[in-house]
Amino acid sequence: MERLDRFLSEAGVESRRKIKEVIRSGRVTVNGETVRLPDQKIDEATAEVTLDGERIGREEKTVVIMMHKPAGCVTAASDAMHRTVMEYLPERYRRLMPIGRLDKETEGLLLFTNDGDLAHRLISPKRGIEKSYYAEHPGTATQEDVAAFAEGCVLRDGTKCLPAVLEPLGEGKSLVRVREGKYHQVRRMLASRDKPVSYLRRISEGSLELGDLPVGMTRVLTKEEIAQLESVDFDE
Ligand code: URA
Repeated sequence: MERLDRFLSEAGVESRRKIKEVIRSGRVTVNGETVRLPDQKIDEATAEVTLDGERIGREEKTVVIMMHKPAGCVTAASDAMHRTVMEYLPERYRRLMPIGRLDKETEGLLLFTNDGDLAHRLISPKRGIEKSYYAEHPGTATQEDVAAFAEGCVLRDGTKCLPAVLEPLGEGKSLVRVREGKYHQVRRMLASRDKPVSYLRRISEGSLELGDLPVGMTRVLTKEEIAQLESVDFDE
């Protein structure tokens, strides 16, 4: 939620002081209603704001939501058979698009945005953003497994992966860091080392960490976090 005067000043409409007068004089509407209070709180992701009848701002404002995706739902806008991640998004954010995807049985960090360009840049293989996963599997990862990941795993169907990091965390647990997103990649990489995954959770993406966000919950990224996401270089 954001103050109406701040929203308008960030959209570049007049100076902050003048904006207060503009609002008080009844020239601004929010969701079709005239609002005369500069400190009125609005939902910057969904509010339709007009000044003198003209739509202001919202399209330029990037919203990014982080979800701790639960297992058992698919990353899709709709699905005839399964629950979807959309059911865990607060109603007002259901028009946002997922940035990339997680498998049905994988939990963890999943981002959503209203900014198609940002989504495209973040999932581009050229950009190679690092993603980390906590995995559980039978046995303990060995130095040979670590070396195979560093070299680039060869999956059972012969697909060669880019070099990745495998960090054994003791009996039955590992951390995996990858910079690409092939279908079921982490599961297939560990399976290629005879370590079929029984549990998988994405814990970070670039500089963003899932932290202690509870399963099934969402939070709105701060402006600073969005700026960080946007600032990573992108070579076409
Ligand atoms: N690797 C997988 O196997 N599954 C995911 O959901 C993401 C990465």
